[in-house]
Amino acid sequence: MTRAGWLLLPDRAVPPDDAWLSEPERQVQADLRFERRRRDWRLGRWAAKAALGGYTGESQKTLSVLADPDGAPHVFLNGRPAPWAISLSHRGGHALCAVAAAGTQLGCDLESIEPRSEAFLADYLTPAEQRCVRAAPDDLRPQAANLIWSAKESAVKALGVGWRVDTRSVEVTCESAGGEAGWRPLRVLCSEPRSCFHGWWRREGSQVLTLVTSTEGPAPARIKPDRPWAASPVAAHRA
Ligand SMILES: CC(C)(COP(=O)(O)OP(=O)(O)OC[C@H]1O[C@@H](n2cnc3c(N)ncnc32)[C@H](O)[C@@H]1OP(=O)(O)O)[C@@H](O)C(=O)NCCC(=O)NCCS
Repeated sequence: MTRAGWLLLPDRAVPPDDAWLSEPERQVQADLRFERRRRDWRLGRWAAKAALGGYTGESQKTLSVLADPDGAPHVFLNGRPAPWAISLSHRGGHALCAVAAAGTQLGCDLESIEPRSEAFLADYLTPAEQRCVRAAPDDLRPQAANLIWSAKESAVKALGVGWRVDTRSVEVTCESAGGEAGWRPLRVLCSEPRSCFHGWWRREGSQVLTLVTSTEGPAPARIKPDRPWAASPVAAHRA
């Protein structure tokens, strides 16, 4: 069992040039026609490479992060499948990247803490999840709703299927939707395909982060981007 790592980066950390992208990544980027999609994609790639650099010590030039036909990201080292699993999310000008050993089913997600309507809760959450949100104090209800939604998204990313399954076939349980800073545990049960994920959630500013894995382990560790990355003139200037 290995400990998962995580890194959250703002979009201002992304270098404006393409020198850090591999050739296959540049080909993918060339087909991204919409500015917002391109910005999110670059942010996710930069967060992935910074996280992988810090987690594995590999340099950005040797790594490629490429999607499979379902959109799930995979890491390649010098063009070959690398021994690490990753997951990505981008929201509100930030990207979250989670890293673990290959073979781990891993998913992460980032959500802004914003009000969710009664219709949203009724349509997308299970009855038990809805009760959990309604049981939270008024000021914590948006956090409860978004952390449950985020954990669901983390689980469908860990499964590699995205929202091709019913949102109510994935059920999140957590002890409390509030409490102290740092990672707090949760569980996700999926009925199609039947699986169980061990997970964590935390609040960072106005966002909630979730991370789930197929194996039980300690709370994820924050990755420090390695020195050459952190010291990159562009990143240092813009961070
Ligand atoms: C995967 C999904 C849950 C992502 O959620 P989101 O809130 O849109 O976006 P996030 O920023 O949190 O995550 C996006 C990242 O998820 C990852 N991802 C996409 N599809 C994935 C999959 N099948 N498995 C695992 N990870 C996936 C990618 O890394 C993506 O970022 P990138 O494309 O820049 O690399 C969602 O887009 C989805 O279900 N997609 C597939 C089904 C679909 O396209 N439905 C359309 C409407 S029915």
